[in-house]
Amino acid sequence: MNRGIFISFEGIDGAGKSSHVQAVADAFAQAQRQVVLTREPGGTPLAEKLRDMVLHDSMDPLSEVLLMFAARRDHLQQVIEPALARGDVVVCDRFTDATFAYQGAGRGFDLKVLSQLEQWVQALPSGVLRQPDLTLWFALDPAIAAERLSKARVPDRFEAQPAAFFAQVHQGYTDRLQADPQRFARIDASAVLDAVRSQVMHVLQERL
Ligand code: TMP
Repeated sequence: MNRGIFISFEGIDGAGKSSHVQAVADAFAQAQRQVVLTREPGGTPLAEKLRDMVLHDSMDPLSEVLLMFAARRDHLQQVIEPALARGDVVVCDRFTDATFAYQGAGRGFDLKVLSQLEQWVQALPSGVLRQPDLTLWFALDPAIAAERLSKARVPDRFEAQPAAFFAQVHQGYTDRLQADPQRFARIDASAVLDAVRSQVMHVLQERL
């Protein structure tokens, strides 16, 4: 049986990661792998309800953090762990690095508390912390991302944040990469779509 593979996609809003999530899922499907394409917050009926709340209802930073981790717990239990146990490839649009970048670096929430919650929510029965095998970070200058976003849809609570917030989130992702360079691959998201796609496919071939 194949070993399960867990891949997450990260980046600030407007970095363009979502256009590549489906392509990665398709590449694994073509290689005869079973693929679960999912996202956070979300991925289960309960977590999708929580997503709707955190993206649209006003709340304090602690409530936001707790809802993100509640959604993650349900997603892990209902979708991610069963898929990895079957030997599937899980392609997930965002995971816990987003909490460290957005709630930690962006909102200034205590990183030690986030680490504690991460332990509670993601520890396997063996004690090992569940983390993606590979995290693709779509790195883009926050000013360019803001310009791309301004042409897009009606902003949610995060997309509506000022440029300074996204500069902090970008720094948050930089810190996460530095803390775990083996797991992260930095994708230059300023390139045109085809060039970004080539980088993504190259990283998959090289790392997996
Ligand atoms: P998406 O637009 O990429 O689906 O992500 C939804 C928003 O949720 C995005 O603005 C980032 C934010 N988010 C957090 O703030 N913390 C988290 O832990 C996750 C998973 C997402």
